[in-house]
Amino acid sequence: MCGIFGYIGDKDAEKVITEGLKRLEYRGYDSWGIAVKKDDKIHIHKKIGEIGDVEEIKQLPGAFVGIGHTRWATHGGVTKNNAHPHFSTDMSFVVAQNGIVENFQELKSMLEEKGFKFETQTDTEVIVRLIELKLRDIKELREAARLAFLDLKGRNTIIILEQNTDHIIAIRNGSPLVAGISADRKEYFLASDILSFAHHTDQVVFMNDYQMVEIKDRKLSLFEVENGNEIEYKIQKVEPGEVNIDKEGHEHFMIKEIIEQQYTIKEATNYTKDELAELVEALKSAKNVYTVGAGTAGYAAGQIAYYLRKIAKLNAVELKSYEMESYKDLIGEGDIMIAISQSGETADTIEALEFTKKNGAKIASIVNMMGSTTTRMSDYKFYSRSGPEICVASTKAFTAQVSWGYLLANAVVDKFEEAKANIAKVSESLQNYFTEELFEQIKSLVDRIKDQEHFFVLGRGMNYYVSLEGALKVKEITYKHFEGFAAGELKHGVIALVDKGTPVFCIVSDDEVKNDMVSAAAEVNARGAFTVGIGDNPKQAFFEDFIEAPQAGDLSPITNVIPFQLISYFLGVVLGNNIDKPRNLAKSVTVK
Ligand code: AGP
Repeated sequence: MCGIFGYIGDKDAEKVITEGLKRLEYRGYDSWGIAVKKDDKIHIHKKIGEIGDVEEIKQLPGAFVGIGHTRWATHGGVTKNNAHPHFSTDMSFVVAQNGIVENFQELKSMLEEKGFKFETQTDTEVIVRLIELKLRDIKELREAARLAFLDLKGRNTIIILEQNTDHIIAIRNGSPLVAGISADRKEYFLASDILSFAHHTDQVVFMNDYQMVEIKDRKLSLFEVENGNEIEYKIQKVEPGEVNIDKEGHEHFMIKEIIEQQYTIKEATNYTKDELAELVEALKSAKNVYTVGAGTAGYAAGQIAYYLRKIAKLNAVELKSYEMESYKDLIGEGDIMIAISQSGETADTIEALEFTKKNGAKIASIVNMMGSTTTRMSDYKFYSRSGPEICVASTKAFTAQVSWGYLLANAVVDKFEEAKANIAKVSESLQNYFTEELFEQIKSLVDRIKDQEHFFVLGRGMNYYVSLEGALKVKEITYKHFEGFAAGELKHGVIALVDKGTPVFCIVSDDEVKNDMVSAAAEVNARGAFTVGIGDNPKQAFFEDFIEAPQAGDLSPITNVIPFQLISYFLGVVLGNNIDKPRNLAKSVTVK
């Protein structure tokens, strides 16, 4: 979902902003725009499609101030005219937004009645005109922007560039925004995340919702949106490990991040018993324990709830962030909600946490991005420490979340050391797993199935969520219909879908449901399915192919999901899809 970038400094603004937007493109976009200010005039360049090289748009050497935006279309089609930023009527300022103005129609009608004309179909233009309306009475842009912002409903983060001074204003609510300052205080950055300016500075100012930042006269000030009062802020240093976004010789971020899992599952569980102790005690005394997330993080939430039930004997329930309506009045004092999120900015998950907090429940979270909203809302804060996950399809964040949940569940029942040893063993086995032989086996499987359109994945017990996540992974990158099912569901309807040659993947671990899984494979095989086994049990009948995963006991969900990640990757490559930025998808779904 959209990316925002702002710069005031002593470097070429077009270059700094273009680079910044390119570092934000993993967030998903379909058009983009840059506005730079030179000789008290704002020049805008907008384009549909991918961000090119700065040479392509080089227009204004000697421009040191500007803003940029990558747009993931919500209101209004993907057109150059709808791309941000948008000019005020008198061209004295421009605005870009990340979010949705939920009362856009009502505001637009009011503004049209007051004589404003609209040139785009976007909700963002409503913000521009609303600021102009406030400026009729208040001559000061910052105050006019603040009052206009208070009229907006929804999660909106906006950035404003003024024409006749070196002046940028930004307001945060819902969608992420962070400020960066160079050590010599000559350069100021505003962006949707730290990654986009981290190669310039490691000194950041984190902002909360309903806070407004102003950069003017080469000085950064922070204000409360509610009352306009100026507030103090802290400049914090960001850990170096958080900011490396290089493919390191791999063709795509996805394969790099898949292979990194051999290490990241250890990073994510690099906590001491003491660091987990407070959360462990809280879980033991909690009335109800919930886990919550969306998409891949939702499946990780399911897997963690499974571990908390199975290992820690806690009655943990997995919830979907976007289906919390019926829980609003049930979650409260004494409950614990464990939020799972790579970005920490997923709107659905944040909204679930807002009422969780309001109702008096406690929040724990495992998040990958530093300084995210989810982390800042949490009473018990944990990081996946997986390094930036750039590919839109989540891989290393999922296994990091699952391994952390496994460690937590074991810590509840005093098996912390044993769990750490098991994770280390799995990490070691993965260090010998990503062989050319494995890749060749998967490529030949991909060659056999690439023309099919419908695929099924069956899992059970500890591999049930793996079937759902494995199917999602392949869906996202190949755009083929991969559906994950509980193997127990097969005879209750799903088997009607199995036709001659239908590829059905069965996840088989050396666990108590192994025989049920082999029976499921036999049933679909008897109906002509092309059956593929995934797991640590290769010597099985009824399979046309079997992708072996390392022995991992209760950590099999981690090793069993990896073949699906690799199938997704190699099938996506064969299909010629955009691996790291699949169509229609965004890395962080910061709008509901
Ligand atoms: C994962 O491959 C997807 N890109 C998506 O489902 C993602 O997991 C989901 O949007 C949640 O994102 P989060 O982990 O940043 O909260």
